[in-house]
Amino acid sequence: MAADALFKPFNVKGLHLKNRIVMAPMTRSFSPGGVATEDVAQYYRRRAEGEVGLIVSEGTGVDRPASLNDPKVPRFHGEAELAAWKRVIDEVHAAGGVMAPQLWHVGAVRSREAEWTPPGPYDSPSGLSRPEKKFGEAMSDADVADAIRAFAEAAGNAKRLGFDAVELHGAHGYLIDQFFWDGTNHREDAYGSKALPGRARFAGDILRAVRQAVGPDYPVIIRISQWKQQDYDVKLAETPKALETWLGALVDAGADVLHCSQRRFWEPEFEGSDLNFAGWAKKLTGVPTITVGSVGLSGDFIAGFSGESAQPASLEELERRLDRGDFDLVAVGRALLQDPQWAVKVREGRTSELAAFERSVMATLY
Ligand SMILES: Cc1cc2nc3c(=O)[nH]c(=O)nc-3n(C[C@H](O)[C@H](O)[C@H](O)COP(=O)(O)O)c2cc1C
Repeated sequence: MAADALFKPFNVKGLHLKNRIVMAPMTRSFSPGGVATEDVAQYYRRRAEGEVGLIVSEGTGVDRPASLNDPKVPRFHGEAELAAWKRVIDEVHAAGGVMAPQLWHVGAVRSREAEWTPPGPYDSPSGLSRPEKKFGEAMSDADVADAIRAFAEAAGNAKRLGFDAVELHGAHGYLIDQFFWDGTNHREDAYGSKALPGRARFAGDILRAVRQAVGPDYPVIIRISQWKQQDYDVKLAETPKALETWLGALVDAGADVLHCSQRRFWEPEFEGSDLNFAGWAKKLTGVPTITVGSVGLSGDFIAGFSGESAQPASLEELERRLDRGDFDLVAVGRALLQDPQWAVKVREGRTSELAAFERSVMATLY
């Protein structure tokens, strides 16, 4: 496994990353009452010690009553919550790491805890959790404005606490993505449109408000996906032209990096080219992109949720694409849950020590 391309440094807006490896955001639900614990801080510190170039936190809730659907997911607002995150970033920095929180609003996605409901109504563009599935009410103008404020405030707090960048969760069928998707956004105001760039107005307003809060020099990443947890086959953009207008709107609004979520990074995005989602995003916008999806593993993460293990896989194809300049950074999820030393082992060529991903690791915070 020749992994040289993965270990070249990279700069984003003056933020120095020692290599191209990003820890993918992964919800762990180990923060009772929404407050990250000392164990959470040590969990991230271990990934910094393991030479991950950029750590993206698990999704963390912005200041709306129903931004989260699980009481053990950490919040990114409130005194105790932010003090806990300060502890996390201080630990990561002490170990030489670089970190961004992933700012999250789940939108109309039902609570996973049968006995628990969020302390306020679910937010969504049109009161739908998926096409034709009524769930709660459409957000009012005031709700939309308040959600934009909540993201911007969280980004400002990330910077103030010392985080190195922020990531907005605009993927996987959660709130921002519910606005992108015509199946869940039927609004007839400025936040709805028949055309995708029009439905990107909510994300654009968030990006502009975030930029206002963090200033011109602070890296802002947005995570996007064609697929939705509600429907893996959705393609928001069916053609490169449609992708260009969608992503162009996000870059114009202030996104510095596009984190392009796929379940399997080697799958081409459009016919006639082997470029993947991150490859097309970089080609069409010129901004740095992050790829993700089954890096170093044989099976994808949705299968992992249902108990399938995944074997270690070669990094050759990933390297080929990275070397060719398709994308700039590579997010690694499950392999880094399994082994905080994954990057070190790859750099040192200790591939025989890389283990299969077993679902049991999700039950602990190692
Ligand atoms: C346990 C777990 C939790 C996840 N939580 C999030 C999340 O909070 N935000 C997000 O954008 N993606 C989340 N994902 C998706 C990952 O960031 C990543 O895109 C996915 O696991 C594919 O990478 P992998 O194949 O290397 O694991 C999660 C994945 C896993 C396995």
